Amino acid sequence: MDAIECIMTRRSVRKFMDVPVEKNKLGIILEAGAHAPSAGNIQNWKFFYVRRPDLKKAIADACQQQNWVATAPVIIVVASEPEKAARYYGVRGERLYSIQNCAAVAENMLLATHALGLASCWIGAFSEESVNRTLNMGEKFRPQIILPIGYPDEQTPEPMRLRIEQLVIFEDQRGGGNGGGGRIEDIPWALKDYNVLGRLIDSASESSKKLSKTGKKFIEKIKTKIEEGKKQ
Ligand SMILES: Cc1cc2nc3c(=O)[nH]c(=O)nc-3n(C[C@H](O)[C@H](O)[C@H](O)COP(=O)(O)O)c2cc1C
Repeated sequence: MDAIECIMTRRSVRKFMDVPVEKNKLGIILEAGAHAPSAGNIQNWKFFYVRRPDLKKAIADACQQQNWVATAPVIIVVASEPEKAARYYGVRGERLYSIQNCAAVAENMLLATHALGLASCWIGAFSEESVNRTLNMGEKFRPQIILPIGYPDEQTPEPMRLRIEQLVIFEDQRGGGNGGGGRIEDIPWALKDYNVLGRLIDSASESSKKLSKTGKKFIEKIKTKIEEGKKQ
């Protein structure tokens, strides 16, 4: 699966098979998170890795009783270290970059999860305090996103997506009397008959040639790390 296909076919899954997840796959997901971009590359994040049933149950309770969360074989909690961002970037670092950095981690992890045939769902509705207490995180860390991970046991239909015409504002349509954005009324004209999907598919198959090489290198790197870890 190439990157574009992975992005287009990922879905939130809330039902998991009662099957354990291979450690090497989890290693790749964690590495994918660690490869996320961050402001000034400060990487002010930690990934809490949870398998114990009692802790998974406590986390599900903290997620406003989303009980299905505890049925995932593994839960990863992505937490930020806001103080570190504050040291470099002040209030903007503490309040904004800390969240954005963790969001980038979570999306990388979601995509890696899907690419490996696993599934997950971004959980944002939880009591920070309860999750922090359950995992004994301490004051330094703030849980930002919870990712239950497992093999999917449901096929989620494609959710409604806004169309590109509703989202993209071209530079000559700024303003338009509705607070900074005009709607594109004639999309084929605006796009100059540019076939968005066709171009996407073309560029996806082009980039997949490069991606497969990069992907192979990436997997080799992880394998080496896992082998090194086994020897220790
Ligand atoms: C910030 C954020 C918070 C979310 N919180 C929850 C949540 O608490 N529980 C849940 O079941 N899904 C949650 N989701 C998942 C969304 O419901 C889901 O991404 C959305 O419906 C689109 O579906 P898709 O992920 O399959 O594309 C959250 C997603 C985001 C980005």
